[in-house]
Amino acid sequence: MIHNLFRIKFVMILMLVSTSLILSSCQPQNRAVDHEQISREERIVIRFSHIVGEKTPKGMAARRFASLVKEKSNGFVEVQVFPNGYLYRDGEEIDGLLKNDIQMIAPATAKITSFVPEWQALDLPFAFNSIGEVHEYLEGEIGSKLMYGLQREGFYPLGLWDNGFKQMTNMTKPLTQPRDFRGLKFRIMPSEIIRQQFLELEAGTQSNSFNEVYQLLEKNKIDGQENTYSNIVSKRIHTQQKYLTASNHGYLGYVVLLKKEFWDQLPEEVQKILQESIKEVTDWEKEMARKMNEESLQELKDCKCVEIHFLSKEEKRLWEEALKPIYQRFEDRFGAEYINQLPRNKGAEH
Ligand code: LMR
Repeated sequence: MIHNLFRIKFVMILMLVSTSLILSSCQPQNRAVDHEQISREERIVIRFSHIVGEKTPKGMAARRFASLVKEKSNGFVEVQVFPNGYLYRDGEEIDGLLKNDIQMIAPATAKITSFVPEWQALDLPFAFNSIGEVHEYLEGEIGSKLMYGLQREGFYPLGLWDNGFKQMTNMTKPLTQPRDFRGLKFRIMPSEIIRQQFLELEAGTQSNSFNEVYQLLEKNKIDGQENTYSNIVSKRIHTQQKYLTASNHGYLGYVVLLKKEFWDQLPEEVQKILQESIKEVTDWEKEMARKMNEESLQELKDCKCVEIHFLSKEEKRLWEEALKPIYQRFEDRFGAEYINQLPRNKGAEH
């Protein structure tokens, strides 16, 4: 009898406990939201396409950005990274973005100059003495104007990433004097200022996608090209070139872009996560870019497969002199402020 009573009491307690457990799990405020459990359709997917390898400043930053966004959004926002131009090749990725087939890209600034030609200011030869000067320029009035230009064209510029300074490579001879360029053909990025730079040196140019450079060199379709140490090494360009001039003559950096229409329809909370993540990644990326270019230069020195010449002060002065007419033409077309606001010129005013 006592035994039965005890059993009934025990079953009642058990029922009470399980009912309250079931009730509490139905309360919306108690439901833990695990975005990993959300179906693919419910997640926000951002396809980030780029054209360089994974072991490059841009490639590594894109990956880091994706994992930060995943972490901060608890899996609700998924950034899928497609490197090496697998999805969209160089020259086609902006189209892909505007068609909303991909939602994020990070083209070199030279490649957005057909939309906002003023960005060519960054391609002016010997415009910057250091990466710090580039940052100063872009963080000032000119930077705001350039960013606004992109918004006007329907883009949302989320961030700016560095690669570094470009160096000259070629197959034929050491490039030390302006006249050494005469008659050689170089692959260039699509920027009018870059084309003019070689034109002033009496060299020919052709604009090709980055992923074609190695083959063009291999088949002797071009004599040379200009790029950063990390891009040269990651695409093994040096194995097809005899000479490298460490000239640091031009800047190569990226604008991280979304289509404005896509950005505007994202929930505010998601926009905040993307902005916080890009800020964190950008600080890291800049340091990574500096380190990777240093390491790549060391690799080039160690391989002993390419003859490296470091441009002397006097040689640099001659190159600058030869390239001066480009500045006047740029000023005539876009106004003096782009030149006057260069940190090296601002310093001279004081
Ligand atoms: C190039 O085309 O040389 C560069 O834009 C490649 C890159 O994106 O770094």
